Amino acid sequence: MAIDYPRWLECSLRSDHAGELGAVWIYRGILWASRDTQLRAFAEHHLFTESQHLIDIESILSPEYRSRLLPLWKLFGFIVGAIPCLVGKELVFHTIDAVESFVDEHYLKQINQLDSVENVDFDFSSIRELLIKCRADEILHRDEARDFATTSQSQFTKLWCKAVAIGSRIAVAFAMRI
Ligand SMILES: [Fe+2]
Ligand SMILES: [Fe+2]
Repeated sequence: MAIDYPRWLECSLRSDHAGELGAVWIYRGILWASRDTQLRAFAEHHLFTESQHLIDIESILSPEYRSRLLPLWKLFGFIVGAIPCLVGKELVFHTIDAVESFVDEHYLKQINQLDSVENVDFDFSSIRELLIKCRADEILHRDEARDFATTSQSQFTKLWCKAVAIGSRIAVAFAMRI
C-alpha cells in the first residue's frame, strides 16, 4: 500500500530515488566503458551498494510517487560514468569524488530536516535510519575514490567536477518536482 508522506518528504524521497537510480547507471556506465581491472572492481563494488540503496528507497516510495523523468536520470548517470573513462581513470575517480561529495551533503540536509520537524502524526525514524545508512556508504565511496586518485586535479578536471556538481544540483531540483 502506498504511504502518503507529507509533500516535502515525498519530494525529498523522489529526488533520493532518482539519485540512487542515477548512481546505479553511473557505475554501469563505467563498467560499459572501461576494461581497467582496478576501475572495474571499484565500479562493481559500488554498483552493488547503489543497487541496494535503490531497492531500499523503492521499498518506501511506490511507483506513483517516483520521478517521471527516470529514463533521463539513467541516461545522465550513464554519461557521467562513461565519459570520464574515455579520458582516463583518474578523471573517473575525481568524478566519483565530486558526485559522492554532493550526495553526502544532499543526505545530510535531509537528515537535518527530519530532525527539525515536529510531526506527531508521522514516525520518521525508519526513513532517517535509511538516509543515515545511505549517507555513510556514500562517504565511503567518496573516500575510496579520493584515495585511488593519485594525481591532483588539473584545471580541466576541476571544471568538469564543478559541472557535474552543478548538474547534480539541477537534477535534484527537477526530480523533486517532476
Ligand atoms: Fe547511493
Ligand atoms: Fe554512492
